[in-house]
Amino acid sequence: MPYYQRVGEVPRKRHVRFRRPDGGLYAEELMGEEGFSSDSSLLYHRYAPTAIVKAEAVPALTGGELTPNLPLSPRHFRTQDLGPSEDLVSGRRLLAGNGDVRISYAAADRPSELYRDSMGDECVYVQSGRATFESTYGALEVDEGDYVVIPTGTIHRWVPHGTVTALTIEAAGHIRPPKRYLSQYGQFLEHAPYCERDLRIPSEPLLSDGEDVPVLVRTRGGLTRLTYRNHPFDVVGWDGCLYPYAFNIADFEPIVKRTHAPPPVHQTFEGPGFVICSFCPRPLDFHPEAVPIPYNHHNVDSDEFMFYVGGDYSARAGSGIDVGSISLHPAGFTHGPQPGAVEAVIASGATTTSELAVMIDTFRPLDLGPGALACEDTDYAWTWAR
Ligand SMILES: [Fe+2]
Repeated sequence: MPYYQRVGEVPRKRHVRFRRPDGGLYAEELMGEEGFSSDSSLLYHRYAPTAIVKAEAVPALTGGELTPNLPLSPRHFRTQDLGPSEDLVSGRRLLAGNGDVRISYAAADRPSELYRDSMGDECVYVQSGRATFESTYGALEVDEGDYVVIPTGTIHRWVPHGTVTALTIEAAGHIRPPKRYLSQYGQFLEHAPYCERDLRIPSEPLLSDGEDVPVLVRTRGGLTRLTYRNHPFDVVGWDGCLYPYAFNIADFEPIVKRTHAPPPVHQTFEGPGFVICSFCPRPLDFHPEAVPIPYNHHNVDSDEFMFYVGGDYSARAGSGIDVGSISLHPAGFTHGPQPGAVEAVIASGATTTSELAVMIDTFRPLDLGPGALACEDTDYAWTWAR
């Protein structure tokens, strides 16, 4: 995030002596991206953020291997048929992935342990329920429809209030608003579908006491559990342009045309090798002769992974797709509305759509995870030929 923020107490200048009430020094930590040549924040800890007392290897979180999408097919997965999980980190059911991104689903009601993803940023989309997101930067109250973007290396945990269902996108790099929405210095431009006021950040420090606190760390080499001498939630203040934030999909202002607009108008975030798009309730295309649902299309460089989270899906009528469903339309396959859908929507005279969906378009093929294969509707591929 290029937008400067400051929370809690920080010294007047960076890298000067900043003392605790007992006269000792706070421990300054610089968290910076891209070799400290990009966004960063300075955090001020009560205790040394370096003091670990134990390191243990742990087995893989999600388990199972990715399987190539062969023979090449459009797919339909029903996350609504997946059972409850342990928590929003260890309970992730791997749906799909490639070298750039891993996409998982979890339905959980228990707090996760402290967790740090050191492989890349995570974006967690909360489909339903409420949770508190706790981190070294402070806490965020998270609700249905929130995207929570968590910078690489942020120690955090999820505390659900009741059951939370969520889709997690684990990137192999940084997840950011699309460059074309920003000025050269990082301000959201007027044509962007959201802006700084729509982003929520922790409003105050989160201080927790504790000794010998384990933190699960995801690295390129696997999983490790590091035990910290003091609780990592000990930051009295931070400032900078790198922090976790929430953005609610209901704050995405759709861009509409008289005739059908392609997915880039729905783009919300970008990461290395993928984009994230939000399909939100909006007026349907309003040219008098408009065909108000998509044409058949072949996204030749992308796999389209679409999570249907609310509303009505006119283009998919008769396909079995419902709230909680995911469709995967891979490169190499032309897809479009189900038979009769175009005629039906024209005949209905509908002027608005209530669809709500989150789409991840990946620029390399998505392999299938065990979570997806456990909830696949194998008839989907043939629904256009009925
Ligand atoms: Fe599509």
